[in-house]
Amino acid sequence: MKLSAVFWLAAITHTSAALSLDDFQDACSSIGPQLSIPNATVYFSEYIPAGTNLSLPDNNATCGQNSQLVSTDTCRISLYIATSNRSGINMEAWMPLNWTGRFLSTGNGGLAGCIGYFDIAYAASLGFASVGANNGHNGTSGGAFYKNPEAVEDFAYRSVHTGVAVGKQITKVFYKEPHSKSYYLGCSTGGRQGFKSAQDFPQDFDGIVAGAPAFNFNNLISWSGNFFRITGNSSAATFVPMNLWPVIHQDVMTKCDELEGYADGVLEDPVLCKYSSKELICRSNSTENCLTPLQSKTVDKLLSPLYYPSGSLIYPRMQPGAETLASLAMFNGQPFPYTTDWFRYVIYNDPSWDPATLDFRDMATAQRVDPAGISTWSGDLSGVRDRGAKILHYHGLMDGLISSEISPLYYEHVKKTMRLGAAELDDFYRFFRISGLSHCSGGDGASVIGQGSRSVESLDPEQNVLMAIVKWVEEGIAPETIVGTRWVDGVETKGVDYRRAHCRYPRRNVYRGGDPKMEESWECILKD
Ligand SMILES: *[C@@H]1O[C@H](CO)[C@@H](O)[C@H](O)[C@H]1NC(C)=O
Ligand SMILES: *[C@@H]1O[C@H](CO)[C@@H](O)[C@H](O)[C@H]1NC(C)=O
Ligand SMILES: *[C@@H]1O[C@H](CO)[C@@H](O)[C@H](O)[C@H]1NC(C)=O
Ligand SMILES: *[C@@H]1O[C@H](CO)[C@@H](O)[C@H](O)[C@H]1NC(C)=O
Ligand SMILES: *[C@@H]1O[C@H](CO)[C@@H](O)[C@H](O)[C@H]1NC(C)=O
Ligand SMILES: *[C@@H]1O[C@H](CO)[C@@H](O)[C@H](O)[C@H]1NC(C)=O
Ligand SMILES: *[C@@H]1O[C@H](CO)[C@@H](O)[C@H](O)[C@H]1NC(C)=O
Ligand SMILES: *[C@@H]1O[C@H](CO)[C@@H](O)[C@H](O)[C@H]1NC(C)=O
Repeated sequence: MKLSAVFWLAAITHTSAALSLDDFQDACSSIGPQLSIPNATVYFSEYIPAGTNLSLPDNNATCGQNSQLVSTDTCRISLYIATSNRSGINMEAWMPLNWTGRFLSTGNGGLAGCIGYFDIAYAASLGFASVGANNGHNGTSGGAFYKNPEAVEDFAYRSVHTGVAVGKQITKVFYKEPHSKSYYLGCSTGGRQGFKSAQDFPQDFDGIVAGAPAFNFNNLISWSGNFFRITGNSSAATFVPMNLWPVIHQDVMTKCDELEGYADGVLEDPVLCKYSSKELICRSNSTENCLTPLQSKTVDKLLSPLYYPSGSLIYPRMQPGAETLASLAMFNGQPFPYTTDWFRYVIYNDPSWDPATLDFRDMATAQRVDPAGISTWSGDLSGVRDRGAKILHYHGLMDGLISSEISPLYYEHVKKTMRLGAAELDDFYRFFRISGLSHCSGGDGASVIGQGSRSVESLDPEQNVLMAIVKWVEEGIAPETIVGTRWVDGVETKGVDYRRAHCRYPRRNVYRGGDPKMEESWECILKD
């Protein structure tokens, strides 16, 4: 991370400037007994010096993280909060020495049960008192939901909401003064959690950054499980072998990349791309890098919206351009694990349920049951608007896990529900489509927008979504665009390849001439 915009951190250390390191360490070791939080057990509080490579031996192995680099002097507090007589959350609160007065909650991913250490450390390093919880269970599987609706309740909304209430209390006791502003940062399930807060607990945050939200969660789960029904397993005639997906991706680019005026291997607006794989069907004299008619049908189905037989939409299509991740994660001839777990342990409480049997009736059941209101599809954001809070929503256009086309649908749903125009929504809710961004991070384009500790090029609010929301909330200056960075070959240490300004919906990016690697060569225009 380059501290090119240190100016933005100048607000730092208003209170804690008074705290010497000794005082800070004392405050940290003595915080436990001073907290009187209902249903809480404080496990420990420990001072973590800047530069520590923190070992996380207790983190569930399936979370895949056993260490976290801590770049700022921090007090780390670990506790358990019972949320019912048969559920609870493990959470951590990280109080940085260089506190800005700001509070921030992180979110989670997938069906997991994994504390977001990367995001907590990122926010703490920027002076936020930061919290994160395990979403009510440990590890990546949904097994903990089996016959335990309280654990589902935690997962749907209660883990974040509880963590915020507790985290704000800890912040106040620790620094002896309440936080100034409260923020949220999350992507995927974390993006859904951000919108769940916006919809149902608007008092929790002054600013929310929500990426690739797992909107309309039950339908998303059904859509994700339906790909296996389309592909069949890897020996089925319908299955498209993995080695053909780069060919298909290239064909998508050939057909659609010039629609924005310049073909650079990144689609600026996949919505414009009406793709069919027909031309990849093998001719009589070739068998390589081509599709059988059956496989071509599979491809076209995989890239089509999913409807009930009645014609009502279950989920929009996997957008063209996302083949790289989508083929690996969704089109791989295996049942999608979250779908299997959700139906087995939440919808049916039947561990023998077979994902190969998923059908429209199952999908309708999940949608109707909507456990703990997890769908997160309320279009009423008046709670956020009325208290002057702000939402920065982004979605990567190369997202191969959660269709990027669900985000504009949600945006339009809010517009319709609240009877507002885009200009009015702009006052409190802005949505940015990020070309070349895969699921939350990575991808082939200018995908580095400060959305997480490993996706930071700059702290300039124009290039960093977290700093952008702070500026919007605290100075009233809203982001017009989000400038993303492409590192050479996608590798940070190789330096900047180019930057591109990503447009605020409903605008789209078009090439206007000149060096395509220059921001100025592109323009955000209103769709026609
Ligand atoms: C931190 O320690 C772990 C082993 O516990 C190691 O795998 C990792 O590379 C270390 N990280 C850094 C940044 O040194
Ligand atoms: C989850 O892991 C934490 C340690 O990180 C542990 O304290 C807790 O007991 C575990 N919870 C369950 C339900 O296994
Ligand atoms: C914290 O702020 C002080 C100045 O107030 C600065 O000297 C120090 O480098 C900062 N530490 C970190 C880890 O950012
Ligand atoms: C404490 O836990 C109980 C269930 O064990 C729950 O009913 C109650 O709401 C919790 N209290 C708070 C303040 O969260
Ligand atoms: C847990 O609480 C529920 C009500 O919220 C109650 O019906 C149940 O008996 C309680 N179980 C135990 C073991 O206390
Ligand atoms: C770790 O995660 C797995 C998968 O979610 C789960 O089955 C297991 O119980 C967890 N272990 C602990 C100790 O919490
Ligand atoms: C695919 O499914 C068929 C029919 O159920 C089965 O016979 C075959 O072994 C499966 N192949 C793989 C690779 O799982
Ligand atoms: C294969 O057939 C097509 C016409 O179907 C023809 O254009 C092409 O040149 C042929 N390629 C080879 C290698 O024979």
